[in-house]
Amino acid sequence: MKNSILFVDDDPNILSSLKRVLRSEDYQLFFAGSGREGLEILGREKIDLVISDYKMPEMNGSELLKKVQAEYPDIMRIMLSGFVEHSDMLAAVQFGLARNYITKPWDSEQLKNRLRHLFDIRNSIMTSNNLKIISSLKELPALPALHSRISGLIEQDREIGEIAAEIEKEPSYVAKILRITNSAFTGVSFISLKDALVFLGRSAIKDIIIYSELFDFLETGRQGVNTLHILWDHFHLCNILTHDLYRLIFQKKLPDHLGSVGLLHDAGKILLAKYFFRDFRQSHEKWRKSPDVCSCDLEQEILGTNHALLGGYLLDWWNLPEYYAEICLYHHDPLAEKNRSRELCSIVHLADSYAWQHLGDGKEPAVRPEVCEFLNVEKKDLDAHIKKNPLHNKTKNQRA
Ligand SMILES: [Fe+2]
Ligand SMILES: [Fe+2]
Repeated sequence: MKNSILFVDDDPNILSSLKRVLRSEDYQLFFAGSGREGLEILGREKIDLVISDYKMPEMNGSELLKKVQAEYPDIMRIMLSGFVEHSDMLAAVQFGLARNYITKPWDSEQLKNRLRHLFDIRNSIMTSNNLKIISSLKELPALPALHSRISGLIEQDREIGEIAAEIEKEPSYVAKILRITNSAFTGVSFISLKDALVFLGRSAIKDIIIYSELFDFLETGRQGVNTLHILWDHFHLCNILTHDLYRLIFQKKLPDHLGSVGLLHDAGKILLAKYFFRDFRQSHEKWRKSPDVCSCDLEQEILGTNHALLGGYLLDWWNLPEYYAEICLYHHDPLAEKNRSRELCSIVHLADSYAWQHLGDGKEPAVRPEVCEFLNVEKKDLDAHIKKNPLHNKTKNQRA
């Protein structure tokens, strides 16, 4: 079945130009001249993606996408806009109304490429078994409202004190952020939230809010406390190692906007631990005995889906930028043909393996040899680097 896109713009020239550009692509295309017309189409057709102009009479793009978000949360949303409306458009992205934006005028090849990328991710996630399992779940964790507010402040380049004041309005987040910064892995201890935020870096803050929310969602279940701690430590250590290995391999700092992706790579495990705890524990224990087998394959065998697909679904459903879903989807198979974030996923793949080695019984990490080859590194050099890193050794002793 073809993927379908609905374009909404009050300028007929824009709609006909889009039609011309995408004529050769394999999509079912719908066009609407107003928000009202767009909603009518949504009511009768199965649409996968809505791309709406921002500035339209009667109902503007934000108002339309807000309705789409409320009534059709599975539909992907993108804003289309002219340069002059740039800040309004960014606000729509920050507040989760649109996953991303496309500026007018666009480069035809880039536009086609962007759309293919979006649908590659979507189609990888939407396997029938994965969808069946997701539709059987009682609820999915919601993207916290604080995330949008903090993203807005970060985008406006506000002072860290102002960001801290916003977070302090929700004390449970303060406790969790301090728990993350003051963990055994970081070797630091802050009392003030502001100091902790400076340590974490501005762009990491919003992902930490998501990470906290995921664990809140899990804590409301009845799973073993031990599993919760193991996951918490694993996510956190994987994030630290992502920074460390990125710097080692690419000789530069991990870009700020990717500062916390390691925290979210296993988001799907939160859903497994919450809803399928026995099966999840069974597959996890089986995997710990034979770490050379991919944990996704064992989960697939037992549950019919796996944490990579579930996490990819969740982060895609939250309408976050594409690389988030890709980290979930491909951290166990970073060189997959459809993956457009191969370098980043390869680093997370290494970080994930070494994080398990560190937290577990020190077994050889299940690093795919082709990933080392792709990154042009020798595994023995990575092993040596990990071994001599004083932070990791200190952590190991502290936890022993
Ligand atoms: Fe994983
Ligand atoms: Fe992991």
